[in-house]
Amino acid sequence: MTERVTVHADTPYDVVIGRDLYGWLPAMVGKATRVLIVVPAVLTHYGTAVREVLTGAGYETYVAEVPDAEAQKTVHVAEFCWSVLGQCGFTRTDAVVAVGGGATTDLGGWVAATWLRGIRVVHVATTVLGMVDAAVGGKTGINTSLGKNLVGSFHTPAGVICDTSMLDTLSERDYVAGLAEVIKTGFIADTRILELIEEALAESDPGVASDAVPLSCDDAPAEGLPVSARLNPVLPELIQRSVAVKAAVVSEDFTEQGSREFLNYGHTLGHAIEHHEDFQWRHGEAVAVGMVFAAELAQVAGMLDASVVARTRALCSAVGLPTTYDGAWEDLQDAMQRDKKTRGHMLRFIVLTAAGEPTRLEGPSEDMLREAFARIAA
Ligand SMILES: NC(=O)c1ccc[n+]([C@@H]2O[C@H](COP(=O)([O-])OP(=O)(O)OC[C@H]3O[C@@H](n4cnc5c(N)ncnc54)[C@H](O)[C@@H]3O)[C@@H](O)[C@H]2O)c1
Repeated sequence: MTERVTVHADTPYDVVIGRDLYGWLPAMVGKATRVLIVVPAVLTHYGTAVREVLTGAGYETYVAEVPDAEAQKTVHVAEFCWSVLGQCGFTRTDAVVAVGGGATTDLGGWVAATWLRGIRVVHVATTVLGMVDAAVGGKTGINTSLGKNLVGSFHTPAGVICDTSMLDTLSERDYVAGLAEVIKTGFIADTRILELIEEALAESDPGVASDAVPLSCDDAPAEGLPVSARLNPVLPELIQRSVAVKAAVVSEDFTEQGSREFLNYGHTLGHAIEHHEDFQWRHGEAVAVGMVFAAELAQVAGMLDASVVARTRALCSAVGLPTTYDGAWEDLQDAMQRDKKTRGHMLRFIVLTAAGEPTRLEGPSEDMLREAFARIAA
């Protein structure tokens, strides 16, 4: 079954979720003559499948094969894509289709945003993180030597395809890392997401869900069936619900002036950990630790019941996400102060008052921060 969620951004667009969805491409690409498919070389087979559909529909197609993961989010790779667009005569009415994970939709989106001051882009998201987060919402960007995502723009896609059959080839580590954003969405807005995961894990192996212990990033995955296999029956609903929450928030606050900030739950410490670990951790792994920290902080501040903290830890552990961290607090604090989302010098966190009830906590005391950090120490 195909689900469709409409995002009411500056121009409304659809996110479609299901299997075998290539047939949606021509309608999303629309009246373009030429289409540039931006795809990492390691995912060429998906780029080829997209190209066949578009060529069959009468488009003039070109492929820009780019490096993998963060290596593609550079100005040099963007310049390579611009040169292909220029040499192939792309005009204002032509289009880019980005096929890949969040790194590719960020790059492809930014190339489309900047070519001739903005041409149409369609995202074909191929990771869990891309489907529930990066490809939905219109943020695009690249990294610079000074940091991640420092150069970018808001550029609304013409459509987003979340074809879950593509996840069959995704590594278990990337699948699980993407689940952190799904769990985050459950805690900030849609608690049915949390129940779906808990139920699916309990049904497939009751012992692991209830007896799970905190894992560190280096721990072996839980024994038995991989988490991806155990969650696959509910994955389409998890993606659809996560996209629906992001769509609602983005529709209300496209340029991140207000409620969109709630999507950053777990990200304040998470970004600091990513930085401290030289980006060797997956984003979702760092966000999982950040969520446990934010839950502990809210509990220390007297805002959140201990049962929600325990639920956060149990859910992250059960899917194989880390919940502890052994870095130095002072280093993380410095990184949080430098984060572009910090306002002035005051640290602010998105915290919960209950599952599904996010709020802001501004300027928590040093004692509170240290106590919360001590509780997540490895
Ligand atoms: N724009 C936004 O709002 C937003 C939000 C969150 C994250 N992001 C960005 O997203 C990026 C992280 O996204 P990601 O985790 O998807 O990373 P990614 O795009 O680097 O993909 C992770 C890895 O999975 C591989 N892969 C992708 N799809 C696959 C598939 N179907 N089968 C096999 N392998 C596959 C990729 O080749 C890569 O090695 C970061 O750059 C982050 O800054 C952007």
